[in-house]
Amino acid sequence: MTEFSSLPQDQSSEVVVVAHSDPLKGEITVPGAKNSVLKLMAAALLADGVYELSNVPRIDDVDIMSELLTHLGLRIEKRDSLEPELDGQKLRIVNSGNISTVAPFEVVDRIRASVNVVGPLLGRFGEVDIALPGGDDFGGRPIDIHLRGLEAMGATFIFTDEGLIGRTTGLHGADIMLNFPSVGATENLIMAAVCAVGTTRIANAAREPEISDLCLMLRSMGADIQGDGTQQLVIQGVAQSSLQSTTHTVVSDRVQAATYMSAVAMCGGDIHVKGAVSGHMEMLISRFKDMGMKITPTTDGLQVCREGRLSAVDISTLPYPGIATDYKPLLVTMLAVSNGTGVVTENLYPGRFRYIEELRKFGADITIDGHHALVRGVENLIGAVVHAPDIRAGAALVVAGLAASGMTEIRDIHHIDRGYDDLVGRLARLGASISRVH
Ligand code: UD1
Repeated sequence: MTEFSSLPQDQSSEVVVVAHSDPLKGEITVPGAKNSVLKLMAAALLADGVYELSNVPRIDDVDIMSELLTHLGLRIEKRDSLEPELDGQKLRIVNSGNISTVAPFEVVDRIRASVNVVGPLLGRFGEVDIALPGGDDFGGRPIDIHLRGLEAMGATFIFTDEGLIGRTTGLHGADIMLNFPSVGATENLIMAAVCAVGTTRIANAAREPEISDLCLMLRSMGADIQGDGTQQLVIQGVAQSSLQSTTHTVVSDRVQAATYMSAVAMCGGDIHVKGAVSGHMEMLISRFKDMGMKITPTTDGLQVCREGRLSAVDISTLPYPGIATDYKPLLVTMLAVSNGTGVVTENLYPGRFRYIEELRKFGADITIDGHHALVRGVENLIGAVVHAPDIRAGAALVVAGLAASGMTEIRDIHHIDRGYDDLVGRLARLGASISRVH
C-alpha cells in the first residue's frame, strides 16, 4: 500500500484516498441490491408477522429506511452473518400490526425510497400522511405518476405545507397506463394493488430486476402478480388477511457489480465478480465488450478482464433493459481514458451531470451540451482532490482515482456509504491501493 501521509487531510470527516493501482486480481462477491432491499423492507408493512431478509447490503440507506419503518411501528434487527462479504447481513423485521400511517419529515427527507411506503400504507390502512420537502414534490424528482395511478385505484391526495395526505375508503383494481416506466411508481402501485378489490393492470410498467425481486417476495407472501419483467403487469387483489410474512434473499446489486467491472476497465486486470447476474446486465455487458473488455459468464458470476486500451463508444441511458442511468458516471469515467470520443446521452435525469466538474479535475476532457456529454479520451488521468456529489458519481470518482497517476482524495464519502457495501475494502482485496483515512 502506498504512503498517504503527504496528502492534505480533511479533519472534519473521513475521506477515501486512492493511489494509481496495478491491474486488479482476485474475486469479490457482489452484495444485495440497494434498489431492491429498500422496497422489500417497505413490503413488510403489508402483513403482520416476522420477516427475514438475507443478503442485505451493509449500507446507510438500509439504516435510514429501518429508522423510517421503525417510526411507523415495525421492529427491525440486524444480524451479521458469519461471512458478511459472502452473505451480507440479515434483517429480521417484526410487524405486530400496530402501525402508524404518519411518516415524518426528519426521516422521509433523507431517502427517496421513503415514498415507497405510500402504496402499502394506503393499500392496507386506507391512509398515509407523508412529509415532502417543499410540500409538492421530491426536490425535482416528481411523484405525479405514483399519485395518478393511486388515484385511478380510488385514492385522493391533498398537498399541505407539511407534505402529502392520502386517503381512500378502499382501493379497487384499475387499468393504469404509466406515461413513463417509473421504477418507484411501478413498485408503489404493485404494493397498493396487492390487496385492492379486483384486478389492476399496469401498462408501460418498469421492468427492472429489482421489481421482479419485489414481486417474488410479494408472491411468497400470498400476492397474485403476473407479468413482472414485462411492460404489462396484472395484479389480482387478495384479501389482506390471506397475506403472511416471509423470508427472502435480496437480488444481487447490478450497479455495484458494474462498479467492480469498471474498476478493472480502468486499471486492467482479471477478476471474478461473484454473484453478478449476466441476465440483469445484458446491454451493459454488450457495451463493455464494445469498449474492449472481455466478459465471460461463470457458474456463479462473471469473469471480467481488460488488457489493451479501451475504445470509445456512444451511450444512451434508458429504462431497463436499456443502459441504466446509475451506470452512467462509471461509463463516462471509462470513456475519459478511452481511445477516441464518445457521446453519452442522459434520457432519465437531464441534470445528472454534476460530477463532470469533478472528473475534469483529473484532466478529463468532457463537454456538456444539454443532456449530452462529449467525452474525448485522454491517455492519462492525474490524481486530484474531489467531492462525491452522489452515490454513483462518488463511486465513479473512486474508480477514476485507481487509474490516475499520483494520489486522489475523495471527500463527502457519506454519499458512497449510502449505497456501497465496503467499496474500499472490496477494491483493496482486489489489489487496489485504496484506504479510508480521517
Ligand atoms: C430508481 C432508483 C434510482 C434509479 C432510477 C432510474 C431506487 C431507490 N432508486 O429511482 O437509483 O436511478 O430508479 O432507474 O430504486 N418521474 C416522474 N414522475 C414520477 C416518477 C418519476 O416524472 O412520478 C421521472 C423522474 O423524475 C425521472 C424518471 O421518471 O426522470 C425515472 O424515475 P423513476 O424510475 O421513478 O426513478 P426512482 O424510482 O425514483
